[in-house]
Amino acid sequence: MLLGEHEHTLDDKNRLTLPARFRQAFAEGIVVTRGMDGCLHAYTPDNWAALVQGRLATLDPLSKEGRRMQRTTTSRSGIAPPGGSSSPRSKGVRSMLPNVLQPSATDHVPVLAAEVRESLAVRPGQTVVDATFGAGGHAALLAADLQGHGKLIAIDRDPTVRTYFERLEKRSGVQARLLRGDFGVVLPQLASNGVQADAILLDLGVSSMQIDRPERGFSYSVDAPLDMRMDGSQELSAREIVNEWDERELTSIFRRYGEERYARQIVRAIVRRRKETPYERTGELVDTIKASIPAPARFGEGHPAKRVFQALRIAVNDELGSLEAALPAALEMLRPGGRLAVISFHSLEDRIVKQFLREKERGCTCPPDFPVCVCGHEPELRAIERRPIRPGATEVAANARSASARLRAAIKAGGDE
Ligand SMILES: C[S@@+](CC[C@H](N)C(=O)[O-])C[C@H]1O[C@@H](n2cnc3c(N)ncnc32)[C@H](O)[C@@H]1O
Repeated sequence: MLLGEHEHTLDDKNRLTLPARFRQAFAEGIVVTRGMDGCLHAYTPDNWAALVQGRLATLDPLSKEGRRMQRTTTSRSGIAPPGGSSSPRSKGVRSMLPNVLQPSATDHVPVLAAEVRESLAVRPGQTVVDATFGAGGHAALLAADLQGHGKLIAIDRDPTVRTYFERLEKRSGVQARLLRGDFGVVLPQLASNGVQADAILLDLGVSSMQIDRPERGFSYSVDAPLDMRMDGSQELSAREIVNEWDERELTSIFRRYGEERYARQIVRAIVRRRKETPYERTGELVDTIKASIPAPARFGEGHPAKRVFQALRIAVNDELGSLEAALPAALEMLRPGGRLAVISFHSLEDRIVKQFLREKERGCTCPPDFPVCVCGHEPELRAIERRPIRPGATEVAANARSASARLRAAIKAGGDE
């Protein structure tokens, strides 16, 4: 039974409240799940039991899908205590919702995991650099390939990954180090200190944990402070860009990084509104975006704020600048025969990776009409596949966020492959 939808806000302790009109329906308790779209779905215990039973009845309990369904329906939902004097209903509801939102380590499903593993072909005794550690999903697999012998260097600019790192460090049995910082800075530092690696991975963008923590402000689906910093100690945040960057700069980033067709209209509306009241929250920006684009464009191409949010996130974290600085440093660090793998999630990143690999794959750079080579350039890399590797339908069905992933991998020249 659909009771309705509610666009919620977070209070200053990051709690969500259920509007009064829904509370009566949840007098017996509440089951909340988080969908692939990041939205919360609330069910009464009876509705939920019927839904789960109905779904499980159609599945073979020993099949992969059946096992997945049993796992998710029993472990990814929570039943709040029913209202009562010792646990007032609103308090019970409030104390549960953030737990549903708080992702666990198992929440992050590494994208193209088998393909990354195959492309990097890590062997015992090697040194692996995971430059985008996140929840350590890929790192755990690569560390397992080291079979207890070798080194793992993990990098992430987000300090909150430390918990995941400590967990992996205990379990992996390999020598592991976490370096906090921007890979566009850390990789060049490692390269200039002569650190060498056999395999380097960059799994670009934000992690599920960052998107799913509403207070980080990456999501347009939940009202939260306008932030979007991967590294909370950085000064520049989305709030500053939206309130302080001039009209031309804002239009340019919405066009370049978000490919937003209505950039000019949206920016005009932002500039008009911020003169009166500065933007503080994502919800205020979403409202402006929705109101500035023609009604038909609000439907059909995903959420109307998706492109502007992507653009702001890229600008806040200078994602393209970091990537451009990281790639040559990664190549320098690789030993001959070492491997580089990069997963990108949008065409701007993929274009940078593709052009870099093409340039380093080319040997001679002399003009085509030169009869003999005078530049003496040798290829520095060899791409493992000509085209980017994309996730299959099964992976996309299980993890919607993998849909736009593209993996490119290459081997550094000069070694036995
Ligand atoms: C897509 S997630 C990686 C997930 C990881 N592969 C896993 O399996 O758990 C990207 C991670 O890279 C980090 N990151 C993104 N850009 C970065 C940069 N320029 N420097 C360092 N870390 C960065 C983010 O903070 C995030 O934790």
